[in-house]
Amino acid sequence: MIPKLINLPKIYDKRGNLSFFEYPNQLPFEIERTYWIYDVPGGETRGSHAFREQQEFIIALSGSFDVVINDGKEEKLFSLNRSYYGLYVPKMYWRRLENFSTNSLALIVSDKAYNENDYIRDFKQFKRLTDEK
Ligand code: TYD
Repeated sequence: MIPKLINLPKIYDKRGNLSFFEYPNQLPFEIERTYWIYDVPGGETRGSHAFREQQEFIIALSGSFDVVINDGKEEKLFSLNRSYYGLYVPKMYWRRLENFSTNSLALIVSDKAYNENDYIRDFKQFKRLTDEK
């Protein structure tokens, strides 16, 4: 699988709209962990790393930010700015989150519990591992 935007259902309602995701209808994996990134100062970058095994789904619940994905050869930028779609990121893609708007809220769900050993934080090492494939 490759990184891709996944559209979520949007239940329009004059009382306020509602969106959701669930496995297996919208998400290709079962959720084991949820975390969120918020109060990001202007100009900051988060999440410059890859995961060996973990896959995840990233949504801008509020505001906007960019997710820059690198497969070891080229970069692709995904702008997230609505809460009714998100970016699926398979394992072994380098990703960084940047260009956060004021008050943006990034929700991330993952199929694995937090495990520092799953991180690849050195881009050169990531590049070597992808070149081997
Ligand atoms: P990290 O994923 O390294 O954030 P970033 O790549 O944006 O710098 O997470 C920062 C710290 O937060 C990390 O050192 C450990 C902690 N952390 C947890 O304890 N559990 C989690 O689920 C996450 C995502 C991070």
